[in-house]
Amino acid sequence: MAPRASTQNLPEGDPATAAAPPPPVHVAIIMDGNGRWATARGLPRVAGHRAGVEAVRRAVRTAAELGVQWLTLYAFSSENWRRPLSEIIDLTGLLRHFLRMEIADLHSKGVRLHFIGDRTKFDPGIQSDIAEAVRKTADNQGLNLVIALSYGGRAEIVEAARQVAADVAAGRFNPVDLTEDLFAARLSTASIPDPDLVIRTSGEKRLSNFLLWQSAYAELIFVDALWPDFGPANFAEALAEFARRDRRFGARPA
Ligand code: FPP
Repeated sequence: MAPRASTQNLPEGDPATAAAPPPPVHVAIIMDGNGRWATARGLPRVAGHRAGVEAVRRAVRTAAELGVQWLTLYAFSSENWRRPLSEIIDLTGLLRHFLRMEIADLHSKGVRLHFIGDRTKFDPGIQSDIAEAVRKTADNQGLNLVIALSYGGRAEIVEAARQVAADVAAGRFNPVDLTEDLFAARLSTASIPDPDLVIRTSGEKRLSNFLLWQSAYAELIFVDALWPDFGPANFAEALAEFARRDRRFGARPA
């Protein structure tokens, strides 16, 4: 299996010939601040989530324009089920609307949809909309859009460990043969490159159980803008900051 971390931005041998670094292959975003955006305007939280969907549309468009190949959006964490029922209904309603109304447009733009997380927690209608979105866009060659739904990094790692343990118990696998690549192949992101860059909006500085394994060597950028205000200029600035970072993946400087 190919190395999981992309090797772009590794120091070049001859700095004089080094071109501008390419954009990150995979950008993952923790979309935070919808509620504060709404509260600051005296609006109900759902208004912030609606504005958040607008920001999703902009981010998808901008990612493709900036040459990003993979964009993962943390739309609903496994912990978000602890929110009040009314907010869960609002969020799942927006998700249903997004899946029904946006897919045709995304498909026409060549976007390929992927989903990670425990989709069985959603009602059967949403589950079949997810399956249809994946099926319909499966052959598209443009931006790969990964939507994390009812996703939790720890649960994902535990599930992979459970699969390994079951294989060992059944005599199908010898523990000494386990490698990082073989373990990663059992995660929900098995066919997805690791994120090069994780962006979190709203000024909070934590990962909140997002892509814990996959972000081992990701650059982290924390942006003050609330998610509904996150626009193309914020995205471009994050990529410019990424380009200034010196990624060594644990190696010594040359
Ligand atoms: C965090 O803001 C945001 C969420 C929990 C949900 C993100 C969802 C969307 C942007 C809309 C749905 C997405 C898709 C792809 C259809 P918060 O509510 O925690 O904000 P706060 O920290 O200011 O309260």
